[in-house]
Amino acid sequence: WRVAPLIAIMSLLLSGCGSPQLSALMPRGSVASEQLFLIELSIGIMGLVIVVVAALYFIAIIRFRKRKGQTGYPKQVEGSHKLEIIWTVIPIILLIILAVPTVYYTFLHSSDLRKDPNAVQVKVTAHQYWWEFEYPELGIHTAQDLVIPQGKKVALEIESVDVTHSFWVPSLGGKLDANRGLVNTYYLETDEIDTFLGKCTELCGASHSLMDFKVISKSTADFDAWVDGMKKPVTVAADAQKGKDLFDANCLSCHAVDVNTGSFGPNLNNIANRTKVAGILEHTDENLKEWIKDPNELKVGNKMPAFKDMLQDNEIDEIVKYLNSLNNFK
Ligand code: CUA
Repeated sequence: WRVAPLIAIMSLLLSGCGSPQLSALMPRGSVASEQLFLIELSIGIMGLVIVVVAALYFIAIIRFRKRKGQTGYPKQVEGSHKLEIIWTVIPIILLIILAVPTVYYTFLHSSDLRKDPNAVQVKVTAHQYWWEFEYPELGIHTAQDLVIPQGKKVALEIESVDVTHSFWVPSLGGKLDANRGLVNTYYLETDEIDTFLGKCTELCGASHSLMDFKVISKSTADFDAWVDGMKKPVTVAADAQKGKDLFDANCLSCHAVDVNTGSFGPNLNNIANRTKVAGILEHTDENLKEWIKDPNELKVGNKMPAFKDMLQDNEIDEIVKYLNSLNNFK
């Protein structure tokens, strides 16, 4: 009975694995499917070993138990070349069965596709606590939403500007560390059109658990339309001009809104088209306003200063109006 609470906690924890968005057991792309095959193969081998060893154990303790009337030691055995060879060779064979596909897929998935003309190139840069996505061939910088075309390999070049993070999209593949000063290569692909949840999976500071992002796969035509919309300059509506002036004076030193530039903070080009505010909040005017007022309240330890004491409430409203007008996809 002492283990009952433990079992209850374990089943609660495991039930959390049922989220299709965050389950490596429900793959939606080729890399994740191949990784699931490795998981199943290793669990299968482990299961086989447990069953065989447990069976031998029970056979031994039952067959060679002390029987009634038995006196003295049973027959002593010292060394058996045959047995020793068997229990050396079988694990070697099992390890080879496990190692060959593991090594093959590990090298395949981290293969460098940066020169592959058929792959979409994306530079992934991890920051405390957000993700920057640059498409060097397309001239696009964006953040938090990684938009990819369906059915095409997306070659990732993963790096960090500060501490070590880790890139993981459970249903598409991962994980791969994002290190400062060291580029890791990886790729993802999916035949489906959907939005997939991504997470940072390396403890990187106070808001590690909030370092979420999205992978949004689109049909080829929709992806091309997205590229066009991202590259087109956004026209500022007349009623958003005041907000633009305030943004330029207060925010532009950290946030680019021009698609071609990287910036210290997330690039906000077409931000009104993004699914979330800061990767974690529903994209509403109220949440964007709350974020600008005090970002550290919502994501502890992030580098954006609070504007609640630097700007009037109505000025923040104007900035929100401007940002939420930045959308070429309406
Ligand atoms: Cu970034 Cu954890």
